[in-house]
Amino acid sequence: MHSRFQLTKKYIQYWLTASNGKGHGIHSPFVYDFIKNVLNDSTSYPCYQTIEGIRKKMLSNTSIIEVEDFGAGSSVIKTKKRMVKQIAASSLKPKKYAQLLYRMVKYYKPQSVIELGTSFGISSAYLSMANTQAVVHTCEGASSIASIAKNNFEALQLKNIQLIQGDFANTLPQLLSKIKTINFAFIDGNHRKLPTLAYFNQLLASSTATTIFVFDDIHWSGEMEEAWQQIKHHAATTLTIDLFFVGIVFINPDFKVPQHFTIRF
Ligand SMILES: C[S@@+](CC[C@H](N)C(=O)[O-])C[C@H]1O[C@@H](n2cnc3c(N)ncnc32)[C@H](O)[C@@H]1O
Repeated sequence: MHSRFQLTKKYIQYWLTASNGKGHGIHSPFVYDFIKNVLNDSTSYPCYQTIEGIRKKMLSNTSIIEVEDFGAGSSVIKTKKRMVKQIAASSLKPKKYAQLLYRMVKYYKPQSVIELGTSFGISSAYLSMANTQAVVHTCEGASSIASIAKNNFEALQLKNIQLIQGDFANTLPQLLSKIKTINFAFIDGNHRKLPTLAYFNQLLASSTATTIFVFDDIHWSGEMEEAWQQIKHHAATTLTIDLFFVGIVFINPDFKVPQHFTIRF
């Protein structure tokens, strides 16, 4: 994992070199449309407040739970006994990015969504409420965390979420053998190089031309930087958008020459 200093330096580099986020000089109509209608859509959708209400509850929950440690996701807490509010403060995607996921699903309307890394279900709730016709399959290893997510889904009366508990190494292949096609994948757990690349390859095998991948924390560590470089230059990848804290990947062969954008967000 990069130190806070390294990460800040990288973030400044990103900000200085990225396109300004208004779409000027972006010669891809698809990316221009994405910037205009998805990235910069500043509508305050009603569900934002509802879901953020659940996040607030998690952030003030002082219960201590026993957590199995999966992957390299948590940079702050290493012990097995954890306070809910500490997990909520350190591992959930901030609302800016969770709401971007919402807008992407709302706009591109994927029918079959996968999330690797449910935690308390905040990003899952955004994915679910963005398109109630879609099915969101969300995977979480830690049973105590998964059970809190389940309660949150019930509290929000979400009917289109399937929560699968277990190590991604087992649950992902099982799930993919059942659902066959996946249209949107948010990879937000086990931030290490080889597992990240393995998930990408497994997901690719069940993808269509319009499947969208969102990778979390692509600059979080040397390993994640390497994984991101390999994903960018993978033979299947035709378009990437680097927003620093997430990387978005498109594999549509209609984008004939692979293009890579870094955009301020
Ligand atoms: C960063 S959190 C997910 C946050 C959530 N997407 C959000 O933004 O609301 C990552 C989660 O992935 C789980 N995880 C990490 N590696 C895993 C693995 N190999 N198998 C199953 N779960 C794993 C962790 O237990 C953790 O709860």
